[in-house]
Amino acid sequence: MQHTKQGLESLTIFEQLPRVELAVLPTPIQELARLSEALAGPRILVKRDDLTGLGGGGNKLRKLEYLVADAISKGANCVITAGAMQSNHCRQTAAAAAKSGLTCHLVLSGNALDKPTGNFYFDQLLGATLHFTERHLRNEKMESVAEELRAQGHSPYVIPIGGSNAVGAMGYVRALIEIDKQLKGDGTIVDRIIFSTSSGGTQAGLVLGAKLRGFDGQLTGISIDHGPDETDPSKFKATIYDIIAEASRNLGAPDICSMNDISIDYDYLGEGYGIVGELEREAIKLMAKTEGLLVGPVYTGRALGAMIDLIRRQAIGKNETVLFLHTGDDIALHAYNEDLLKP
Ligand SMILES: Cc1ncc(COP(=O)(O)O)c(C=O)c1O
Repeated sequence: MQHTKQGLESLTIFEQLPRVELAVLPTPIQELARLSEALAGPRILVKRDDLTGLGGGGNKLRKLEYLVADAISKGANCVITAGAMQSNHCRQTAAAAAKSGLTCHLVLSGNALDKPTGNFYFDQLLGATLHFTERHLRNEKMESVAEELRAQGHSPYVIPIGGSNAVGAMGYVRALIEIDKQLKGDGTIVDRIIFSTSSGGTQAGLVLGAKLRGFDGQLTGISIDHGPDETDPSKFKATIYDIIAEASRNLGAPDICSMNDISIDYDYLGEGYGIVGELEREAIKLMAKTEGLLVGPVYTGRALGAMIDLIRRQAIGKNETVLFLHTGDDIALHAYNEDLLKP
C-alpha cells in the first residue's frame, strides 16, 4: 500500500504535535532465530520497546512523551494516573514525571503490599505519592485526588488508565512509523505484528499509524483482560475505535480507519488478569532459555504464549514473518518469582 495524499498531510500535522523526549528511540528490531528454531516455526522478529529506557522502560513512555507535553502546555505541575498494583504504566508515569519536574500521584488498586516488589517498589523509588482504592473506584479516586491538589493550589493533570486516549495513542502512531522505516530500510516484509492489548491505546496508535503510513501487515492484539465473558467483545473494539476516531480527527483524517481495521484475539485470557498460568510460564521460560530475553508475567508473557500457540496450531504459517512487540514488563517478574519457578 502507498501513502495516500490524506495520509501524507496528516503525517505533516503529526510531526508538529507537542512532544517531550523521554524514551530512547528508535528501539531495535532483532531476530529471534533460536526461538523460531525451537518452534520449527516462521521467522520471528522482536521490536524491543522494553528498551525505551527511562525508569526501566516499556511502551507507556512513548504515550507519555505526548501526554506530558500536553500536561506542561496546560500549565500542570503534577500528574495523576491509576493502575494495578504492578502497573507498568504507573511506574513509567512516575519516571516521566520525575524527569519532567512534575510531581506524581498514583492511584493503585488494592491495599499497599507488605513487601515492596516489582513496579510497586519502583513507584516509590521514583518518588510518586501512592493512593489506594478498589479497582472499580480508580477513576473517582483520581478525581478526588485532583480536587484535593487543586484546593492546595496545585495544577493537576489526569492521565487516563494506561495513558490510552487520543493524545497518548500518538506515541504508537510514531512507533508504527518507526517500525515501518526500520523494515523498509532492511528490505524486510513483516506479515503480522503481535502485541498485548489492554487499555487500547497501543493498538489504536498502531492501527492509525499503519493507515497513515501505508503499512500492509496484519496487526493482532492479544487481549489481556477484556473478554466475551466479561463484556461484549465489540465494546472493547469500540473503545479502541473511539480513540482512533478522535486521534485521526486531530490529524485531519477523520475517516481513515474503520472498525474492521481492529483485530483482537480474545482466546488467551487464562484465569484472569495478572494470573500466571501454564501458557505464560512456558512462554516466559522458552524465551529466556532460547534467546536470553526476559518477557513479563502479565502482558508480554501472555501475548508471547498466544503467539507460540498460534504458531503451533499453524494459524501463523511457517512462511510468514512475525514481529513480536515487546512492550516491556519484565520488572514485574520480581513480583511473580514463586509462580514462575514452579516446575
Ligand atoms: C507491558 C505492557 N504491555 C502492553 C500493555 C497494553 O497496552 P495498552 O494499555 O495500550 O493496550 C500494557 C498496559 O498496561 C503494558 O503494561
